[in-house]
Amino acid sequence: MVGQRVIRILDSPAALYRAGAEEFAARIAGAVDARGPCAIALSGGSTPRGLLELLAESPYGERIPWSDVEFFWSDEWAVDPDHPASNFHMAREALLEKLEVPAERVHRMPAERADLDAAACDYQRELARTFGVPEDGPPSRLDLVLLGMGADAHTASLFPRTPALRERLRWVVPSRAPMEPCDRLTFTFPLINRARCVLFLVVGADKAAPLAEVLESARDLDRLPSQRVDPEDGRLLWLVDQAAASRLRLGAA
Ligand code: 6PG
Repeated sequence: MVGQRVIRILDSPAALYRAGAEEFAARIAGAVDARGPCAIALSGGSTPRGLLELLAESPYGERIPWSDVEFFWSDEWAVDPDHPASNFHMAREALLEKLEVPAERVHRMPAERADLDAAACDYQRELARTFGVPEDGPPSRLDLVLLGMGADAHTASLFPRTPALRERLRWVVPSRAPMEPCDRLTFTFPLINRARCVLFLVVGADKAAPLAEVLESARDLDRLPSQRVDPEDGRLLWLVDQAAASRLRLGAA
């Protein structure tokens, strides 16, 4: 690993969301100062909702230069965008509508399409076009990728012992989850690991055992997909609450 790996243990989910909001503010402001408009990827699941709601409120709503942010998703379920399980639906409700983000800066993952392989290619093309880079070259460098971790140590929609874990060239691929709706679209590890910052949010006692395995056990990359998150030249920040950290041997960095 070239980049910086930090593990912060927070007293509560609320403290974790505040730390996450501060990281968003710092990374987005830094990116915009350094390079102008920036691009981030949101994730799904239940954990990020509290963070997105906080980011829509004061002071983050006005403090962060949201008009310079392009929004992407690290994965999406094969459901309509208005379906309650849609990661886009959650983010639109929790953050995007409140910030009144214009549609042209919201790059929804079209996972409801029948041909998911074509949808994955189109999303890769949209990423490349936004960054002004060739779509068949090295993955774009997102400024911030928000991730969660499942109790099976999956992240995004990169599940244990699935082919998507081993993708080396494509930035976005179809994947299959072990739970309905099984079909997904997901970032691949080449794209995730090009990010300037990857922010993991992990909350709850049900994540304690897998988190300890991911962070402190021997590498077992097919069984523990989250171990594959290893930014080549970027910051990896784990924000975990006390309950999720309860099985960790190491303290906070
Ligand atoms: C998704 C997420 C997924 C999520 C984990 C953790 O689309 O569901 O991308 O990877 O982050 O499953 O989910 P919770 O935060 O709900 O525990």
